Amino acid sequence: MSYIERTRKKADALIAQKSATILAIESSCDETAVAVVQDGRRVLANEIASQIDIHALYGGVVPEIASRMHVEALSPLYENALLHAGIEQKDISAVAVTFGPGLVGALLTGVSFAKALAYALDVPLIAVNHIEGHVSANFIQSPTLEPPFVCLVASGGHSHIVNVTRYGKYELLGRTVDDAAGEAFDKVARVLNIPYPGGPLLDKLAEEGNAERYHFPKMHTEGKYDFSFSGLKTAVINQAHSIRQAGGEVNAADWAASFRKAVVDALMDRTMLAVKDSGAKKLALAGGVASNRLLRREALRRGGEMGLEVSMPAPALCTDNAAMIGAAGFYRLMNGEIANLDLNAQPSIRLIEQ
Ligand code: KG4
Ligand code: ZN
Repeated sequence: MSYIERTRKKADALIAQKSATILAIESSCDETAVAVVQDGRRVLANEIASQIDIHALYGGVVPEIASRMHVEALSPLYENALLHAGIEQKDISAVAVTFGPGLVGALLTGVSFAKALAYALDVPLIAVNHIEGHVSANFIQSPTLEPPFVCLVASGGHSHIVNVTRYGKYELLGRTVDDAAGEAFDKVARVLNIPYPGGPLLDKLAEEGNAERYHFPKMHTEGKYDFSFSGLKTAVINQAHSIRQAGGEVNAADWAASFRKAVVDALMDRTMLAVKDSGAKKLALAGGVASNRLLRREALRRGGEMGLEVSMPAPALCTDNAAMIGAAGFYRLMNGEIANLDLNAQPSIRLIEQ
């Protein structure tokens, strides 16, 4: 019997039991992460090695460095994950891994590790879309949350509004037509001399600023649930340069607060419109930008006004981690979707194509 035939049988048994201990791996960008997740919701271990300090020296992620660091970090993180979860290799029922989207070299390190591990343990291999991972962080945070719900996914590489109709089934409602929200935060932060990744620090600075001080252009898009951050980002950066050239000074806290408000308003206006039009009763946030303080407050406020059930992962589950990959992997497995050993990294895969 071949590997896929053997693991198909094992997957069927896990589906019948509705239970699995999943070893999950994430290496799509600049965090190497390994987690152990029980039945999609319970995190037994969540190990992470961030490379941010090194990439900060270059002002952004250097793909070659990221890949090399993933290779070094994966084995020790795996050992730690088993130790912290209090399990042995034989207790792993399946291996889930991010296969895209992301940096190809970085993805390949995780995919190769996962394939070798799944083959050695003779257990099912599960291919997880990174964006689906972000959405699934909500299953860990809110143990009773079930589809359908509308989710705003905003990260460094993606900004989407999706309708999660069933586990593993998505309808794309809106997306960015250019930059991602996190990318806009990082680029505007640079003008304020905030080091990479600027989003979290800009958010902190904004807490002390006056959001009404500066005025930036409203975002225009053709699709009513779509985003466009490129024009806003350029307008904000140009305005800062003009003020400085005229000998004036930009008040960093007020600038950060005004920009943050413009981004959050744009994200929330479209998300709430999508919720309203689709008749959804639940709203979820996901992705690194979902740890933004103002976005969280606004989602709770506006969601509360509409009587929605609102879910948002704790900040550590919003940014890249492997626990979210384990959660997504569990539901893929329960849908009977397992991968063979020819699984390859797919750097540009979308959420809906799968
Ligand atoms: O989801 P994530 O960890 O990685 C990607 O898949 O891209 O998101 C990282 C992005 C970065 O652009 C970072 O600046 C942004 O999320 N971010 C934030 C905050 N925390 C992280 N942006 C705004 N406010 C925050 N508090
Ligand atoms: Zn991410």
